Amino acid sequence: MTLSLVVLALIVGVSLWLVLSPLGRGAPDDPDAPERERLRQELDRLYGELAALTDERRRPDLERRAALTLRALDALPPAPPPASRAGATRRLALLGVGVAALVTAAGAVTFIPRWQLAALTPREAGAVQQALALPELRRRAEASRSVADALAWGRAAFDAGRYDEAASAYAAALRLDPRQPEALRRLGILLLTRPAQNGQPLGEQEAGQAFLLVRTAAQLAPDDAESQLFLGFALARFGQDEAALTALERYRTLNPAGRDADETITAIRARQNESNPGLRVYAASCASCHGASGGGGALGPNLRVSRLSRDALRQVIVQGRGAMPAYPDLKPNELTALLDVLERWQKGGS
Ligand code: HEC
Repeated sequence: MTLSLVVLALIVGVSLWLVLSPLGRGAPDDPDAPERERLRQELDRLYGELAALTDERRRPDLERRAALTLRALDALPPAPPPASRAGATRRLALLGVGVAALVTAAGAVTFIPRWQLAALTPREAGAVQQALALPELRRRAEASRSVADALAWGRAAFDAGRYDEAASAYAAALRLDPRQPEALRRLGILLLTRPAQNGQPLGEQEAGQAFLLVRTAAQLAPDDAESQLFLGFALARFGQDEAALTALERYRTLNPAGRDADETITAIRARQNESNPGLRVYAASCASCHGASGGGGALGPNLRVSRLSRDALRQVIVQGRGAMPAYPDLKPNELTALLDVLERWQKGGS
């Protein structure tokens, strides 16, 4: 950024110099000026003599000399514009340069903020603009002591990635309204993720308090997508994977376009698959047709709504049916674990 400003200043400086330096030198010198002056004086003198002529015999000679002088004068290279006209041109040019400079400056003042932001992604640019608005939002929140203003300040800081300031803002909001869900869950998640943000460790007691904030928010506003998202994050942080998955899947239902839970869901599933041989077999052999969590896919039906008994399930798996391939080589413990998973799903478990 600084570099481009320096380059810009250089370009402007050089162009100004190029435009202005010829003007500064004034009118160019006329090397023939003395000769021209001499011939003009000569011509004036001859005309004067002709006008006051008393002896008519001298006329032809005078006229011949005047004609020669005139021709000599014409033969000189054309004179540059007289000084007064050069001055006018110069003033005009200076005026033009001045106007151009004004236009450039005005353009720069209105354009540079966008121009500076142009190198950023829209999201980063938004964050920068929000960060620029922060002092004003903070001042307003502190002056008005209204929850809405504190939330606006917190939101702006949160979106700009100023997490310390966001935490202060949400704490201020909670002092005014201790049951404000957005302030509760965001302050909670900010505390829980503090080690990742700035390396400050988090004691178990603090972590427990942060978790309570998030859980309270989810109880107060269960249908806010963010409530479920943060609850899912918090539960996963405390190793409660099943409950975390439930919350995160709820988040996806509330906000179908939201992708914020995907990573955590994948991570939890991978963790479960490692510890549960049934899920591991399912992910390896069945998920491609029946969906990642048994909800049905392009090829296989929804297994969660299957009404088959454990024995019937076992039979379909071992012998296959229709387009469903047979899996006769599963180890007994794998098959048992797999059937456990399917039965849990049939009962609505995650
Ligand atoms: C190539 C795709 C495919 C794969 C892989 C697959 N299935 Fe299937 N599955 C199907 C299809 C198709 C059906 C429906 C068969 C029919 O009824 O004709 C089915 C049916 C079933 C049914 C019966 C559901 C009901 O209620 O009728 C069960 C249970 C089942 N599959 C479990 C599994 C398990 C467990 C695995 C992994 C070990 C698995 N499937 C792998 C395609 C697949």
